[in-house]
Amino acid sequence: MQAVIEERDELSWGHRRIANQDQRQGKDMVDLKGTVAMVTGASSGIGRAIALALAAEGATVCASGRNLGGLQGAVAEAGPAACMTALRADLTIEEDLELLRDHLSRAGKLDILIHAAGAIHQGRMQDARIEDLDVQYAINVRAPYVLTKLLLPLLTASRGQIVFLNSTAGLNAKRAEAGQYAATKHALRAVADSLREEVNSKGVRVLSLYLGRTATPMQEALCRQERKEYHPELLVQPEDVASVILTALLLPRTAEITDISIRPMQKPG
Ligand SMILES: NC(=O)c1ccc[n+]([C@@H]2O[C@H](COP(=O)([O-])OP(=O)(O)OC[C@H]3O[C@@H](n4cnc5c(N)ncnc54)[C@H](OP(=O)(O)O)[C@@H]3O)[C@@H](O)[C@H]2O)c1
Repeated sequence: MQAVIEERDELSWGHRRIANQDQRQGKDMVDLKGTVAMVTGASSGIGRAIALALAAEGATVCASGRNLGGLQGAVAEAGPAACMTALRADLTIEEDLELLRDHLSRAGKLDILIHAAGAIHQGRMQDARIEDLDVQYAINVRAPYVLTKLLLPLLTASRGQIVFLNSTAGLNAKRAEAGQYAATKHALRAVADSLREEVNSKGVRVLSLYLGRTATPMQEALCRQERKEYHPELLVQPEDVASVILTALLLPRTAEITDISIRPMQKPG
């Protein structure tokens, strides 16, 4: 079991912000100040950009990942005025998921849950390793399912919002090497779609983002594996994704954005 390490004193953010949010319960969300957000995959790439964007808007952010250095870097970049806590957790380990739940239960509130952690292995079925399929299932499907289930009482209490970072591979699997990853992202889409039907009546919104190639360490590694040149400037930027998510989170409660597709404006050659 991995230890969960807190970089900031949780009590420093708990009480003041809870009071702020309670005053606004039942009203439209006009800004993110006073909200509490959990972001998985916050040590790198898209999750990191989302965590920073939420913190910049005044949200209290629980930034989760395995790589403590990456999490500490995000906390440092957010700056001393921001309210970001680094929580080291391996989402494939049951006890770590429960420790995240316990941390937020002690805080007493959760408004936004962003599932950005993910893993990808590409390969044709004839060569593919079953261990890779198991890892992707664990991080891309099981972890967001179990973590959401554990946090559902807090999310329904706050009429919260849940965001799943999906992929174009969650919509279309017609690429020979994409079978394992696409299967997990199709499953993630099903989790989100079904959950939305369950929780909308309780005031909880659920959003899936179907991303094309985005300039992150995951994408850089993928290009290396595919023997393609990596041109981050031609790809979707993590900050673009964060900006779209913020817009969706701030939408008045009369509407819900359910699915968003984002792809690079230009096609890398
Ligand atoms: N980049 C793209 O082109 C692209 C396109 C479509 C969809 N997506 C999706 O977008 C999401 C973010 O990807 P990214 O591009 O930002 O990748 P990234 O830079 O590689 O970040 C992946 C994140 O997932 C976390 N993670 C992986 N395994 C974990 C585990 N067992 N426990 C806890 N955290 C774990 C990593 O944390 P640690 O390193 O700290 O373990 C890291 O923070 C993923 O769901 C991915 O499938 C990305």
